[in-house]
Amino acid sequence: MATYFKRTSVHKIIQSLIRLGQLGFKDGRKLEDSLVSLIRVREASKMFKASERQLELRADSLSTLVGEGWKESVVNDKVNLSDTENVYLDKDFIRVQLDNREFSQHILKNIQQAGPSYGYERLESSPETVLVEYSSPNIAKPFHAGHLRSTIIGNVIANLYEALGHNVIRLNFLGDWGTQFGLLAAGFKKYGQFKKLEERDPMLHLFEVYVRINQDVSAEDESDMRKKATYAEGLELFRKLEQGDPEIVSLWKTFRKITMEENNKMYERLGIKFTETHTESMYNDKVKDIVKRLEKEGLLKYNESGVGYMDVMFAGRLGPAKLVKSDGTSLYLSRDVSAAVDRYERFKFDRMHYVVEMGQRSHFEQLIGVLRLMKEPWILERELGDVHIQFGRIEGMSTRKGEVIFLRDIVDEAKSRMIKTLKEKQTTRDGIEVEEVSDRLGISSIIVQDLKDRRIRNYKFSWDRMLNFKSDSGVFLQYCHARLCSMQRTCGVDLQDGAAVDSLVEEEAQQLVLHMARYPDVVQKAWVNLEPCYIVQYLFRLAHLTNVAYSHLPVKGQHSDVAQVGQSDL
Ligand code: ARG
Repeated sequence: MATYFKRTSVHKIIQSLIRLGQLGFKDGRKLEDSLVSLIRVREASKMFKASERQLELRADSLSTLVGEGWKESVVNDKVNLSDTENVYLDKDFIRVQLDNREFSQHILKNIQQAGPSYGYERLESSPETVLVEYSSPNIAKPFHAGHLRSTIIGNVIANLYEALGHNVIRLNFLGDWGTQFGLLAAGFKKYGQFKKLEERDPMLHLFEVYVRINQDVSAEDESDMRKKATYAEGLELFRKLEQGDPEIVSLWKTFRKITMEENNKMYERLGIKFTETHTESMYNDKVKDIVKRLEKEGLLKYNESGVGYMDVMFAGRLGPAKLVKSDGTSLYLSRDVSAAVDRYERFKFDRMHYVVEMGQRSHFEQLIGVLRLMKEPWILERELGDVHIQFGRIEGMSTRKGEVIFLRDIVDEAKSRMIKTLKEKQTTRDGIEVEEVSDRLGISSIIVQDLKDRRIRNYKFSWDRMLNFKSDSGVFLQYCHARLCSMQRTCGVDLQDGAAVDSLVEEEAQQLVLHMARYPDVVQKAWVNLEPCYIVQYLFRLAHLTNVAYSHLPVKGQHSDVAQVGQSDL
């Protein structure tokens, strides 16, 4: 859309600078693409009416490209840069005034032609291969809020890359290795029943076992000796698993299958997809190759108890990142190092993002530090924040029944609350699939609540806010969308090319067009920062503006020119 205007506006700016003697002709041409990616549609505000169409470029971003010199010839605010009044400097921005009519016409036509791909224009630069790792729950441990956020945020980030034309590998990395397995196996020997694993809810049974055995090793009324003995049994069983003991391996496979089946049901319900599922256990053996490589390159040191480590910066200082236990077996960190090396060999990606809660920051600092020392090519130019995509905690996530055990508890409760609301609402039409609709609305609400703020912020879980039809929530967006679809079906107006933009005189209509024109900029911003909240906030405003237009701009009974660009109150 605005690319056309962006290009012509950038031309105007460059020509003005050339005329002012601030830029050579050739330099100007070189600048063009960078400026097109930086110039934005100006938002409406108290100072700026929506009907004034402008593009704006931050003056300091021009200075970064060409130096401060250009400002000397245009020192005062609101100084024209061109012969006409169209390009001028206004405090921190260079602004380009556009023709309202031409702009609106172009935007509307463009939206209509592009359809769902509006805002996701094909890249001019060549597509990259990007690996996004998200969800990554643990087998035989509850799927907690951190995994829920990783699943939701990671999925959107992957969608964003894909929509912008990149090649995306969506990877789920299951935590299926570690001493917790030994403990669960010990628990199962004590409290488990195979029969219950065949019944309706095997996951619940595994969870009961998990809770009881964890109580055994931490309960206050338990003697230290017994706690230690239980723990030692867990370690012993894990050692057996590492050695390939058939009985324990088979138990481990059963736990893994049950957990994956449960998770897959949830992924399907939430519309989450992966192209790859890898597991930590895949790397237990491969760690040996990494250790050999590190020893050969002289990177690995051993301490007096035989633990292998490398010194890297994490948590603000240089410290030992432990990679090999004294018995030579792997650790979470070394499995991650091995996995990163393997993924790069397989996919030769340009970037990899790990969407993981911020509590694991120091783990990722260590991982990145180690990969840098190993000179893995993709990591050298990257910052921590570009590799470890962090997010904050959800506080107070609970259901009517109390503590949340499984993700399905949250999704089920959102659904049942929606069913209740829909049944009570008089506007709910007969014959709709209340169950199905409520499931969708509940899920949208969970997702939108999770994405609406910057990801690093912690947020308080609130059923009321999340399921509120009138405020900024998932149901609110769905409601607005459904209302528009219904209007489109029933208004009796054909949506054709070339709407008569001269009829768009009302402020409400002007606001809406301007807001829609901003969408590609918003998508870019969300993508550059990997922050889905910019898109969600954009949608909230779009829904509000739509609602205002909806009640002020009738469609029914209007002349067809007006109706085609207006709204109805059907
Ligand atoms: N399974 C881990 C956990 O739940 C998260 C894995 C994150 N990804 C990674 N490559 N380390 O704590």
